[in-house]
Amino acid sequence: KIVPVILCGGSGTRLWPRSRAAKPKPFLPLVGDSTLFEATVGRCPPSRGFDPPVVVTGSKHLDHVEDQLGENSGAAIIVEPAARNTAAAIALAACRLPDDAIMLVCPSDHHIGRPDAFADAAIAAAALAEEGWLVSFGIEASAPETGFGYLKRGEPIGDRGFRTAQFVEKPDLERARQFIAEGTYAWNGGIFAFRVKDFMDELAAYRPAIAAAVRKAVAGGREDGARFHPDAGAFAEVESESVDYAVMENTARAAMVPADMDWSDIGNWQALHVALERDAHGNSVRGKAELVDCCNVLVDSDGPTVSVIGLEDVIVVIDGNDVMITSAAGVQKVGKLSGAVNQ
Ligand code: GDD
Ligand code: MG
Repeated sequence: KIVPVILCGGSGTRLWPRSRAAKPKPFLPLVGDSTLFEATVGRCPPSRGFDPPVVVTGSKHLDHVEDQLGENSGAAIIVEPAARNTAAAIALAACRLPDDAIMLVCPSDHHIGRPDAFADAAIAAAALAEEGWLVSFGIEASAPETGFGYLKRGEPIGDRGFRTAQFVEKPDLERARQFIAEGTYAWNGGIFAFRVKDFMDELAAYRPAIAAAVRKAVAGGREDGARFHPDAGAFAEVESESVDYAVMENTARAAMVPADMDWSDIGNWQALHVALERDAHGNSVRGKAELVDCCNVLVDSDGPTVSVIGLEDVIVVIDGNDVMITSAAGVQKVGKLSGAVNQ
């Protein structure tokens, strides 16, 4: 059995004004009718051998999580007293599971267009995790993105896996370009398969303080129905570090499973536009809009009707009283708008 461990943490300012601190990216129906969180849960069905998930989230997102899980999910929820990044969030789940369980760590804010390919890769990754590997999902690297981790493909292992010869989290642009030119690197998809005991052993080896503080927070925690509350005082002591830096860059047991599953982390409006269905001119519309002589225009309006003439590579978003208009090239700056920063 594979236990999905679903991480819900981020704030998502880069998709402002649709994504807001009070209702960030995972909880919005950005692609299709389901929210990204609902789709993440739905990708791990019992019919493919997945156990009910463990969701790790902060108290400010608890209402959204419980709403969107629905009544009968069987999910367990770990409520973080504070955000301490992914090494600690994954360790919390690990400490609540049996030593031999296989965790499938899933970010809740990605789009995956081919859920069957995801499940196939998860099953292959779980088989490697059973053998003691710490497994990443490798995504074909198509551009020198600096916001991702990079996995260098090593020798083949198992049916469809490889050793990870090198794991580099968020290289600078020059290194990212070298990796793309070399052609032997994949992006780290941020999805991992670990056996609980192996993950905790590696965390204890490379970040003993994080492992010890999380164990203490879980030992001192309390249950409340499906919710578990780690001890806030002990958890406050935990160092904030991502699993990529804390464990994956260091472990000698890193492996990867390539996954061709139409993956996007929807990191900005342009990435969302690419993930959406578009008409013959590359336009897509959510809400009411009239587009004349437009090309690659995205309109997302929750109320007003938007009319656009003769523009190319433009994104228009209306959410309540906020209107955001950007060129496709400007999307990386959305999170720095004062509207997004001071929301
Ligand atoms: N519960 C919880 N608590 N979840 C968290 C926390 C936390 O403190 N911090 C982050 N998360 C969740 C985020 O909501 C997201 O779903 C996931 O963990 C990954 O965190 P990000 O902050 O989005 O990481 P990243 O995008 O910078 O980098 C990671 O993902 C990339 C792919 O999207 C790394 O794994 C990269 O190597 C990878 O390429
Ligand atoms: Mg991310």
